[in-house]
Amino acid sequence: MSLKQQLIKDKLPKHVAVIMDGNGRWAKKKGNIRIFGHKNGVKAVRETVEAAAEMQIEYLTLYAFSTENWKRPKMEVNALMSLLINSIHNELETLNKNNIRLFAIGNINQLPAKVQKELYQAIENTSGNTGLTLVLALSYSGRWEILNAVNQLLNDVKNGKIEGDEIDSSLFNDYLATAKIPDPELLIRTSGEFRISNFLLWQIAYSELYFTETLWPDFRKEDFFKALLDFQNRERRFGMTSEQL
Ligand code: FPP
Repeated sequence: MSLKQQLIKDKLPKHVAVIMDGNGRWAKKKGNIRIFGHKNGVKAVRETVEAAAEMQIEYLTLYAFSTENWKRPKMEVNALMSLLINSIHNELETLNKNNIRLFAIGNINQLPAKVQKELYQAIENTSGNTGLTLVLALSYSGRWEILNAVNQLLNDVKNGKIEGDEIDSSLFNDYLATAKIPDPELLIRTSGEFRISNFLLWQIAYSELYFTETLWPDFRKEDFFKALLDFQNRERRFGMTSEQL
């Protein structure tokens, strides 16, 4: 039986988040520059989006550019921005054909105007789609998002919109960039690093973590299905005992 055939619809996560890592090392292994790795990473993005749509996953969040990534050499940052503009532009038709809705989280204002324009156009253009929601985390970090939420909350308390004692986990959640999105049940990181790297810090409280040695540009549908299968076979207890479940 193929990996895909072994997947049980009821046991699949609704939301999968991915830390796409290893583009630079992949390129270096091939004696090429880091940007070559990013370019080849786009193919892995396409495969992952397709695989998620095929399995009727509701949300797929990809960590495409972190707050910390701004510190990379200017040439690499510029290349990544161009890659984003081109990929969003070129994939728009495919997104619509496949009923995929695009969404973005992060400090979007910090992105170059051209990226913002392409991104907002694609978000608007796909807003009526009802299949997979593809969430791009751009200029994103978990700490940025939490601080942003705290500042907005403070403002709303000051303005009398909410009372300080109303704040609970559910209300706080509404102030996050992922407000309307369920927490990811599964977080995948490629390239053999065992880190969270400031990704979805609040949302992954109970996520299952899956690490693979595969470098991002080599990641294919089968790798995604393998992660889903691994998830399917885990017991999620949320702090309870096996007997209570
Ligand atoms: C991490 O590899 C990868 C990134 C920081 C960028 C990911 C971007 C893409 C795959 C391209 C475009 C994305 C979309 C959504 C169209 P790394 O550079 O940290 O690799 P290393 O750890 O080996 O140096």
